Amino acid sequence: MKSKTLRGNWSLRTKKFELPSLFFICTFFFLAGFFGSSFFSQFPDDVYGVRSRATFLDSTTVETEYNLLTSGESGDNSITSIPFQVLSWKPRALYFPNFASAEQCETIIDISKEGLKPSSLALRKGETEENTNGIRTSSGMFISAAEDKTGTLDVIEEKIARATKVPRNHGEAFNILRYEIGQKYASHYDAFNPAEYGPQKSQRVSLNSEATITRPRKPKMASFLLYLSDVPEGGETVFPFENGLNMDGSYSYEDCIGLRVRPRRGDGLLFYSLFPNGTIDPTSLHGSCPVIKGQKWVATKWIRDQELDDNGV
Ligand SMILES: *[C@@H]1O[C@H](CO)[C@@H](O)[C@H](O)[C@H]1NC(C)=O
Repeated sequence: MKSKTLRGNWSLRTKKFELPSLFFICTFFFLAGFFGSSFFSQFPDDVYGVRSRATFLDSTTVETEYNLLTSGESGDNSITSIPFQVLSWKPRALYFPNFASAEQCETIIDISKEGLKPSSLALRKGETEENTNGIRTSSGMFISAAEDKTGTLDVIEEKIARATKVPRNHGEAFNILRYEIGQKYASHYDAFNPAEYGPQKSQRVSLNSEATITRPRKPKMASFLLYLSDVPEGGETVFPFENGLNMDGSYSYEDCIGLRVRPRRGDGLLFYSLFPNGTIDPTSLHGSCPVIKGQKWVATKWIRDQELDDNGV
Protein backbone atom coordinates (compact mmCIF):
# COMPACT_ATOMS: atom_id res chain seq x y z
CA MET A 1 0.00 0.00 0.00
CA LYS A 2 2.67 2.42 1.11
CA SER A 3 4.82 2.07 -1.99
CA LYS A 4 1.78 2.50 -4.25
CA THR A 5 0.95 5.84 -2.64
CA LEU A 6 4.51 7.06 -3.00
CA ARG A 7 4.65 6.09 -6.65
CA GLY A 8 1.34 7.90 -7.23
CA ASN A 9 2.63 11.17 -5.79
CA TRP A 10 5.81 10.99 -7.79
CA SER A 11 4.08 10.56 -11.14
CA LEU A 12 1.89 13.57 -10.37
CA ARG A 13 4.91 15.68 -9.58
CA THR A 14 6.90 14.71 -12.65
CA LYS A 15 4.31 16.39 -14.84
CA LYS A 16 5.42 19.77 -13.49
CA PHE A 17 9.04 19.31 -14.62
CA GLU A 18 10.43 20.09 -18.02
CA LEU A 19 12.38 17.26 -19.63
CA PRO A 20 15.92 18.78 -19.21
CA SER A 21 15.42 19.50 -15.52
CA LEU A 22 14.04 16.01 -15.05
CA PHE A 23 17.16 14.62 -16.72
CA PHE A 24 19.37 16.71 -14.46
CA ILE A 25 17.59 15.55 -11.33
CA CYS A 26 17.79 11.92 -12.38
CA THR A 27 21.50 12.23 -13.08
CA PHE A 28 22.08 13.92 -9.77
CA PHE A 29 20.32 11.19 -7.77
CA PHE A 30 22.02 8.48 -9.78
CA LEU A 31 25.48 9.89 -9.04
CA ALA A 32 24.58 10.58 -5.43
CA GLY A 33 23.42 6.99 -5.04
CA PHE A 34 26.44 5.61 -6.86
CA PHE A 35 29.12 7.48 -4.91
CA GLY A 36 27.09 7.48 -1.74
CA SER A 37 26.94 3.69 -1.64
CA SER A 38 30.69 3.25 -2.22
CA PHE A 39 31.28 5.86 0.50
CA PHE A 40 29.08 3.97 2.99
CA SER A 41 30.57 0.61 2.10
CA GLN A 42 33.88 1.73 3.64
CA PHE A 43 32.28 1.54 7.05
CA PRO A 44 32.29 -1.73 9.01
CA ASP A 45 29.32 -4.00 8.35
CA ASP A 46 27.68 -3.67 11.73
CA VAL A 47 27.42 0.12 11.54
CA TYR A 48 25.29 -0.08 8.43
CA GLY A 49 23.72 -3.48 9.11
CA VAL A 50 20.33 -1.87 9.61
CA ARG A 51 20.56 0.06 6.37
CA SER A 52 21.46 -2.94 4.21
CA ARG A 53 18.73 -5.02 5.77
CA ALA A 54 16.18 -2.36 4.84
CA THR A 55 17.46 -2.34 1.26
CA PHE A 56 17.03 -6.09 1.09
CA LEU A 57 13.45 -5.95 2.37
CA ASP A 58 12.50 -3.16 -0.06
CA SER A 59 13.56 -4.87 -3.20
CA THR A 60 14.42 -8.37 -4.27
CA THR A 61 15.80 -7.25 -7.64
CA VAL A 62 18.71 -5.15 -6.35
CA GLU A 63 21.99 -7.01 -6.69
CA THR A 64 23.77 -6.78 -3.40
CA GLU A 65 27.41 -7.58 -2.84
CA TYR A 66 28.13 -9.33 0.40
CA ASN A 67 31.42 -9.41 2.17
CA LEU A 68 31.44 -12.95 3.46
CA LEU A 69 33.02 -14.01 6.69
CA THR A 70 35.16 -17.07 7.13
CA SER A 71 32.70 -19.75 8.11
CA GLY A 72 33.06 -22.40 10.77
CA GLU A 73 33.97 -25.93 9.73
CA SER A 74 30.36 -26.97 9.17
CA GLY A 75 29.36 -23.71 7.49
CA ASP A 76 29.29 -22.36 3.94
CA ASN A 77 31.49 -20.00 1.97
CA SER A 78 28.48 -18.71 0.07
CA ILE A 79 25.23 -16.89 0.69
CA THR A 80 21.97 -18.80 0.57
CA SER A 81 19.03 -16.86 -0.75
CA ILE A 82 15.67 -18.59 -0.76
CA PRO A 83 12.75 -16.23 -1.49
CA PHE A 84 9.61 -16.77 0.53
CA GLN A 85 6.30 -15.15 1.34
CA VAL A 86 4.76 -15.09 4.81
CA LEU A 87 1.27 -16.49 4.24
CA SER A 88 0.23 -16.31 7.84
CA TRP A 89 1.60 -15.81 11.35
CA LYS A 90 -1.26 -17.82 12.88
CA PRO A 91 -0.19 -20.48 12.08
CA ARG A 92 3.32 -19.58 11.00
CA ALA A 93 3.02 -20.54 7.33
CA LEU A 94 5.59 -19.62 4.70
CA TYR A 95 5.37 -20.04 0.97
CA PHE A 96 8.44 -20.74 -1.22
CA PRO A 97 7.67 -20.08 -4.89
CA ASN A 98 9.90 -21.99 -7.37
CA PHE A 99 11.56 -23.99 -4.61
CA ALA A 100 12.23 -26.90 -6.97
CA SER A 101 12.51 -27.11 -10.74
CA ALA A 102 9.97 -28.85 -12.97
CA GLU A 103 12.59 -31.53 -13.76
CA GLN A 104 13.23 -32.19 -10.07
CA CYS A 105 9.48 -32.60 -9.51
CA GLU A 106 9.13 -35.00 -12.44
CA THR A 107 12.05 -37.08 -11.20
CA ILE A 108 10.57 -37.39 -7.72
CA ILE A 109 7.22 -38.51 -9.17
CA ASP A 110 8.97 -41.06 -11.40
CA ILE A 111 10.95 -42.67 -8.60
CA SER A 112 7.85 -42.84 -6.36
CA LYS A 113 5.23 -44.20 -8.76
CA GLU A 114 6.15 -47.86 -8.25
CA GLY A 115 6.07 -47.84 -4.48
CA LEU A 116 2.72 -46.18 -3.77
CA LYS A 117 0.50 -47.74 -1.12
CA PRO A 118 -2.70 -46.47 0.52
CA SER A 119 -1.73 -43.89 3.16
CA SER A 120 -2.23 -44.97 6.74
CA LEU A 121 -3.13 -43.37 10.05
CA ALA A 122 -1.97 -44.03 13.58
CA LEU A 123 -4.94 -45.80 15.11
CA ARG A 124 -6.08 -45.07 18.61
CA LYS A 125 -7.87 -47.54 20.92
CA GLY A 126 -11.20 -48.59 19.44
CA GLU A 127 -10.28 -47.52 15.94
CA THR A 128 -9.94 -49.92 13.07
CA GLU A 129 -8.89 -49.49 9.48
CA GLU A 130 -12.58 -49.73 8.57
CA ASN A 131 -14.01 -47.10 10.90
CA THR A 132 -11.33 -44.57 10.02
CA ASN A 133 -11.89 -45.15 6.32
CA GLY A 134 -12.24 -41.91 4.40
CA ILE A 135 -10.18 -39.64 6.67
CA ARG A 136 -7.06 -40.01 4.58
CA THR A 137 -7.59 -41.41 1.13
CA SER A 138 -4.32 -40.67 -0.67
CA SER A 139 -1.62 -43.12 -1.68
CA GLY A 140 1.96 -42.64 -0.67
CA MET A 141 5.40 -43.99 -0.03
CA PHE A 142 8.33 -43.11 2.17
CA ILE A 143 11.74 -42.61 0.62
CA SER A 144 14.86 -41.16 2.19
CA ALA A 145 17.28 -38.93 0.34
CA ALA A 146 19.88 -41.73 0.51
CA GLU A 147 17.53 -44.16 -1.22
CA ASP A 148 17.06 -41.83 -4.19
CA LYS A 149 19.81 -42.78 -6.66
CA THR A 150 19.13 -39.69 -8.83
CA GLY A 151 20.33 -37.42 -6.01
CA THR A 152 17.31 -35.15 -6.41
CA LEU A 153 15.93 -35.68 -2.91
CA ASP A 154 19.39 -35.01 -1.49
CA VAL A 155 19.42 -31.56 -3.09
CA ILE A 156 15.86 -30.84 -1.98
CA GLU A 157 16.53 -32.02 1.57
CA GLU A 158 19.58 -29.78 1.85
CA LYS A 159 17.54 -26.83 0.62
CA ILE A 160 14.75 -27.60 3.11
CA ALA A 161 17.32 -27.59 5.93
CA ARG A 162 18.41 -24.12 4.83
CA ALA A 163 14.85 -22.86 4.43
CA THR A 164 13.81 -24.14 7.87
CA LYS A 165 17.17 -23.55 9.56
CA VAL A 166 16.78 -26.97 11.13
CA PRO A 167 19.50 -29.60 10.49
CA ARG A 168 18.69 -32.42 8.09
CA ASN A 169 18.75 -35.14 10.74
CA HIS A 170 15.58 -33.70 12.30
CA GLY A 171 13.62 -34.61 9.19
CA GLU A 172 11.86 -37.88 8.53
CA ALA A 173 12.19 -39.63 5.19
CA PHE A 174 10.16 -37.92 2.47
CA ASN A 175 6.55 -39.01 2.28
CA ILE A 176 5.56 -38.77 -1.38
CA LEU A 177 1.79 -38.57 -1.70
CA ARG A 178 -0.58 -38.81 -4.60
CA TYR A 179 -4.19 -37.61 -4.36
CA GLU A 180 -6.48 -38.56 -7.22
CA ILE A 181 -9.87 -37.03 -7.97
CA GLY A 182 -11.98 -37.00 -4.79
CA GLN A 183 -9.07 -37.92 -2.54
CA LYS A 184 -8.37 -35.78 0.50
CA TYR A 185 -7.04 -35.62 4.03
CA ALA A 186 -9.49 -34.32 6.62
CA SER A 187 -8.08 -31.56 8.82
CA HIS A 188 -5.72 -32.75 11.52
CA TYR A 189 -2.70 -31.77 13.56
CA ASP A 190 0.78 -33.01 12.77
CA ALA A 191 1.98 -32.44 16.31
CA PHE A 192 0.44 -34.84 18.77
CA ASN A 193 0.31 -34.26 22.46
CA PRO A 194 -2.80 -35.83 24.01
CA ALA A 195 -1.73 -34.97 27.57
CA GLU A 196 -1.75 -31.29 26.77
CA TYR A 197 -4.32 -31.04 24.06
CA GLY A 198 -6.81 -33.76 24.97
CA PRO A 199 -8.17 -36.35 22.57
CA GLN A 200 -9.26 -34.68 19.35
CA LYS A 201 -11.45 -36.25 16.75
CA SER A 202 -9.17 -34.87 14.08
CA GLN A 203 -5.81 -35.53 15.65
CA ARG A 204 -3.72 -37.89 13.59
CA VAL A 205 -0.14 -38.87 13.26
CA SER A 206 0.94 -40.57 10.10
CA LEU A 207 3.25 -43.52 10.41
CA ASN A 208 5.55 -45.42 8.17
CA SER A 209 6.65 -48.55 9.97
CA GLU A 210 6.03 -51.00 12.82
CA ALA A 211 8.53 -49.10 14.92
CA THR A 212 6.22 -46.14 15.11
CA ILE A 213 3.49 -48.15 16.80
CA THR A 214 5.55 -49.58 19.62
CA ARG A 215 7.69 -46.52 20.15
CA PRO A 216 6.27 -43.04 20.52
CA ARG A 217 7.71 -40.75 17.90
CA LYS A 218 9.35 -37.44 18.56
CA PRO A 219 7.05 -34.42 18.15
CA LYS A 220 6.72 -32.84 14.75
CA MET A 221 7.51 -29.17 15.00
CA ALA A 222 7.16 -28.23 11.35
CA SER A 223 6.08 -29.64 8.02
CA PHE A 224 7.47 -28.79 4.62
CA LEU A 225 5.34 -29.64 1.60
CA LEU A 226 6.79 -29.53 -1.88
CA TYR A 227 4.06 -29.57 -4.51
CA LEU A 228 5.16 -31.79 -7.40
CA SER A 229 2.23 -31.16 -9.72
CA ASP A 230 -0.12 -28.38 -10.69
CA VAL A 231 -3.68 -29.14 -9.68
CA PRO A 232 -6.21 -27.45 -12.00
CA GLU A 233 -8.96 -27.60 -9.38
CA GLY A 234 -9.18 -28.60 -5.72
CA GLY A 235 -6.40 -30.22 -3.70
CA GLU A 236 -5.56 -27.08 -1.73
CA THR A 237 -3.77 -27.32 1.58
CA VAL A 238 -6.22 -25.73 3.97
CA PHE A 239 -5.77 -24.06 7.37
CA PRO A 240 -9.35 -23.68 8.69
CA PHE A 241 -8.32 -21.98 11.95
CA GLU A 242 -6.02 -19.38 10.38
CA ASN A 243 -5.94 -16.23 12.47
CA GLY A 244 -8.49 -17.72 14.88
CA LEU A 245 -11.24 -18.26 12.28
CA ASN A 246 -13.85 -21.02 12.69
CA MET A 247 -12.59 -21.97 16.14
CA ASP A 248 -16.00 -21.72 17.83
CA GLY A 249 -16.47 -25.51 17.72
CA SER A 250 -18.74 -25.52 14.68
CA TYR A 251 -16.02 -26.54 12.24
CA SER A 252 -16.47 -29.93 10.64
CA TYR A 253 -13.15 -31.50 9.76
CA GLU A 254 -14.15 -32.07 6.15
CA ASP A 255 -14.74 -28.41 5.26
CA CYS A 256 -12.30 -26.59 2.98
CA ILE A 257 -12.54 -23.17 4.58
CA GLY A 258 -9.99 -20.70 5.91
CA LEU A 259 -6.59 -20.13 4.35
CA ARG A 260 -6.26 -22.25 1.21
CA VAL A 261 -2.96 -22.84 -0.54
CA ARG A 262 -3.23 -23.89 -4.17
CA PRO A 263 -0.68 -26.53 -5.17
CA ARG A 264 1.68 -25.34 -7.89
CA ARG A 265 4.45 -27.49 -9.24
CA GLY A 266 7.79 -26.70 -7.67
CA ASP A 267 6.43 -24.48 -4.91
CA GLY A 268 7.00 -25.19 -1.24
CA LEU A 269 4.91 -24.60 1.87
CA LEU A 270 6.37 -24.60 5.36
CA PHE A 271 4.28 -24.39 8.49
CA TYR A 272 5.01 -24.83 12.16
CA SER A 273 2.86 -27.04 14.37
CA LEU A 274 4.50 -25.83 17.56
CA PHE A 275 4.87 -22.39 19.04
CA PRO A 276 8.44 -21.29 19.78
CA ASN A 277 7.85 -22.43 23.37
CA GLY A 278 7.14 -25.99 22.21
CA THR A 279 3.38 -26.13 22.82
CA ILE A 280 0.98 -26.98 20.02
CA ASP A 281 -0.27 -24.10 17.90
CA PRO A 282 -4.03 -24.75 17.62
CA THR A 283 -4.19 -22.76 14.37
CA SER A 284 -1.84 -25.28 12.70
CA LEU A 285 -4.82 -27.54 12.04
CA HIS A 286 -4.66 -28.35 8.34
CA GLY A 287 -5.98 -30.69 5.71
CA SER A 288 -5.97 -31.43 2.02
CA CYS A 289 -9.13 -30.52 0.11
CA PRO A 290 -10.50 -33.13 -2.30
CA VAL A 291 -8.93 -33.01 -5.74
CA ILE A 292 -11.57 -31.97 -8.28
CA LYS A 293 -9.52 -31.96 -11.49
CA GLY A 294 -6.14 -33.54 -12.19
CA GLN A 295 -3.82 -35.22 -9.70
CA LYS A 296 -2.04 -33.80 -6.72
CA TRP A 297 1.49 -35.00 -6.03
CA VAL A 298 3.28 -33.69 -2.99
CA ALA A 299 6.54 -34.48 -1.22
CA THR A 300 6.15 -34.00 2.52
CA LYS A 301 8.96 -33.65 4.99
CA TRP A 302 8.04 -33.75 8.67
CA ILE A 303 10.55 -32.06 10.88
CA ARG A 304 10.93 -33.14 14.50
CA ASP A 305 12.07 -31.09 17.43
CA GLN A 306 14.78 -33.69 18.16
CA GLU A 307 17.37 -35.45 16.06
CA LEU A 308 16.28 -38.76 14.60
CA ASP A 309 18.36 -41.89 14.79
CA ASP A 310 19.63 -43.73 11.71
CA ASN A 311 16.32 -45.50 11.24
CA GLY A 312 14.54 -42.18 11.08
CA VAL A 313 12.70 -42.81 14.37
C1 LIG B 1 3.32 -20.78 24.58
O1 LIG B 1 3.22 -19.80 23.56
C2 LIG B 1 1.90 -19.50 23.18
C3 LIG B 1 1.95 -18.54 22.00
O2 LIG B 1 2.79 -17.46 22.24
C4 LIG B 1 1.10 -18.95 24.34
O3 LIG B 1 -0.22 -18.67 23.96
C5 LIG B 1 1.11 -19.99 25.44
O4 LIG B 1 0.45 -19.47 26.57
C6 LIG B 1 2.53 -20.39 25.81
N1 LIG B 1 2.46 -21.50 26.74
C7 LIG B 1 3.32 -21.65 27.75
C8 LIG B 1 3.12 -22.85 28.61
O5 LIG B 1 4.21 -20.88 27.95
